[in-house]
Amino acid sequence: MPTHTFILNGKRVSVDCEDDVRLLWVLRDLLGVTGPKYGCGLDVCKACTSHINGKAFNPCSVSVSKIGANDEITTIEGLAGTVNAPLHPMQQAWLDLDVAQCGYCQPGQIMTAVALAKEAKAQGRSITDDDLDAIRNVCRCGTYPRIRQAIEAGAAKM
Ligand code: FES
Ligand code: FES
Repeated sequence: MPTHTFILNGKRVSVDCEDDVRLLWVLRDLLGVTGPKYGCGLDVCKACTSHINGKAFNPCSVSVSKIGANDEITTIEGLAGTVNAPLHPMQQAWLDLDVAQCGYCQPGQIMTAVALAKEAKAQGRSITDDDLDAIRNVCRCGTYPRIRQAIEAGAAKM
C-alpha cells in the first residue's frame, strides 16, 4: 500500500492507504483529526473546509495522492497555531458573537472566513457584502447573520 506524506497543522505526517482515498477520510479516520466535518462528500456543503497552503479547499473531494509532500494542510485544530496564539482572531470573534448553534458547520465556516479575510487583506481591501454573499458554506441552524458579523469583526483584527 502506498505511503502518503504531507504537513498537517505544522507537523509532517505519513499514512499508508490507497491513492484514491479522499483526504477527508485520511484526516478523520486515519489521523484522528475530526475538526473538518463530513456533510456531503461532494464539495457542496463546505462542512469540511480546511486550508491547503493557506487557501480554502474541500478535502472530501481531493484524493490523498494529489497532496504533495510539502503541501501544508491546516484544519481548525491548527488554525490558532498559524498565529502563535491560544485562539485565532476569527475564532475569538466567533466566541464574542456567540455564533454557533449546534456547531456542526462551524469549523468549516471559520476556515472559509479566515481564507476570505486573508485574500481581501492581500488585495488591500475590506470584505464586502458581495464576498459574504458568495460564501457557500451551509448552516442548517441558520446562523448566517451572526456568521457575517463575526467575519467582519474577525477580519478587522487580522
Ligand atoms: S463534506 Fe466536503 S463539501 Fe460537503
Ligand atoms: S450551527 Fe448547526 S449547522 Fe451551522
